[in-house]
Amino acid sequence: MTEENKKTVSISKGLGDAFNQGIDACINLIVKGIEKLFAMQFRENPFLTPFLVLMVPIVTYLVTDANLIASNFKNCSIFAKEFCDLIANVSFETSFISWLVMISISFLLVLGLFNRVFNDKFEKLVEKLNLKSGDGEYPKIKRIKELDQYKTLLTMNLNGVSFEKLKTQKSTIESILDMYVESIDEGSSPTVAEITLCRRNLPDSITYSSLSKDEVLPDNSFYVGRSRSGSIIEDLSKLPHMLIAGATGGGKSVFFKQALLGLLQSSPKMEMYLIDLKCGVEFKDFKGLSNVKIVKSVSEAARVLEAVEQEMYRRYKLFEASDTNNIEGYGKDMNRLVVAIDECSLLFDNPTSDEAKSAKQSVTNLSRLARACGIHLIVATQKVTKETIPTHIADNIEGRMIFRIGSLQGSLQVFGDKSATQIKKHPGRGIWANGDERANVQTPYITEKQISTLCKKINSDETISVKTVDSKTSEKGKDDVLTLRSKQP
Ligand SMILES: Nc1ncnc2c1ncn2[C@@H]1O[C@H](COP(=O)(O)OP(=O)(O)OP(=O)(O)O)[C@@H](O)[C@H]1O
Ligand SMILES: [Mg+2]
Repeated sequence: MTEENKKTVSISKGLGDAFNQGIDACINLIVKGIEKLFAMQFRENPFLTPFLVLMVPIVTYLVTDANLIASNFKNCSIFAKEFCDLIANVSFETSFISWLVMISISFLLVLGLFNRVFNDKFEKLVEKLNLKSGDGEYPKIKRIKELDQYKTLLTMNLNGVSFEKLKTQKSTIESILDMYVESIDEGSSPTVAEITLCRRNLPDSITYSSLSKDEVLPDNSFYVGRSRSGSIIEDLSKLPHMLIAGATGGGKSVFFKQALLGLLQSSPKMEMYLIDLKCGVEFKDFKGLSNVKIVKSVSEAARVLEAVEQEMYRRYKLFEASDTNNIEGYGKDMNRLVVAIDECSLLFDNPTSDEAKSAKQSVTNLSRLARACGIHLIVATQKVTKETIPTHIADNIEGRMIFRIGSLQGSLQVFGDKSATQIKKHPGRGIWANGDERANVQTPYITEKQISTLCKKINSDETISVKTVDSKTSEKGKDDVLTLRSKQP
């Protein structure tokens, strides 16, 4: 082969390789574009549907004007006459489909290109993170997957870097990517980590009425609020107890009341014992409800709590007789009971009163044993210390709605780290934790007037009446529990 020929072969080989790489890159971009398209949610993306709908008239216009375009092409020397004739003479259907395919491919290419530019920052993340293994290796991005319009899952090969070390970089990752880290979990093997990232901001405020318009509560449930990944609704029967804590003005009482309201609205057969030692002012709107009893003094609280505790033992006996060990397995009608204590320190941090001690003991027993028999505790406190909420009670409460806490000690008590001190100082902003799972949330806001109106509505609803299903609770001395049933048939 002559030198000239060799040169031509190598140029054409180079061009061929470049062409193949170009095709590969385009296919890759189209695939990325398709992935992005599927990750987009039509309902939440106001521009996507009109854009796709607009494509039909655009394509129709292009097709009907194909002749015009073709005649323009004829004057252009770079297109062969045959090619222009071909465009001008193709059938309407062929032309329509060709244009549609061309526009779709261009659309996917642009989408894919956006995706590529966007993913670039993930690729650069590992270099910017101050993480190196003993061998000087950086973690490597294995996969970037768009979970939905707001969420991205980053799968990372740790390459010898410890998982715990990566977890300490949470805030650095957030500032590099300008995204929120929702979770850092172990992946399919201990050498793989999965980081869930979210780019949606929390709303500054969310109302109870807007949440209830969007999502109807299933039985025994209440709204927690709006997280970056959407609304959170919790089922009390699965929690089964809840702690609400945070400094003054954080939104505990508003959250407490809207949660009780949600439970009352979703579960007509729920009995509630609301202990409010600030003379019942917090729960005053619930006063008229037939299935709610408001407790205002320590002595009354001690009696009610003891009665509820006895009710718990009675239920276990019933379960034993029916060869079951929980309310779900019992099968017969049995109400769920909610014992809610606002500012529980007034009850628990009261060492001189025997009644307070008895109340504390009952709550301890309920927190330990009531899980299976449909009795739930909801306690709220401003301060989280061993005195305000005893450790053995707190340890048995899995559901935690925590608003900003001023002290590191308080945060350590509820979360074991400083995250509760880092919550934004903004009413209704907090962290919802259920076991190990946590989410930043904006809790629902409801006014006193709305609570009062909804309570009146609940009370006038004939279907909402607690039946005397547990007839044995009418034994003498258990009247506190029965006060609720005064309106029953
Ligand atoms: N989810 C919310 N969204 C918007 N504003 C809220 C929200 N929750 C509470 N607020 C505002 O913050 C104020 C204080 O809320 P709340 O009374 O619930 O605080 P708290 O934590 O119970 O305080 P304290 O410990 O003093 O009783 C409310 O009057 C209301 O104006
Ligand atoms: Mg309050």
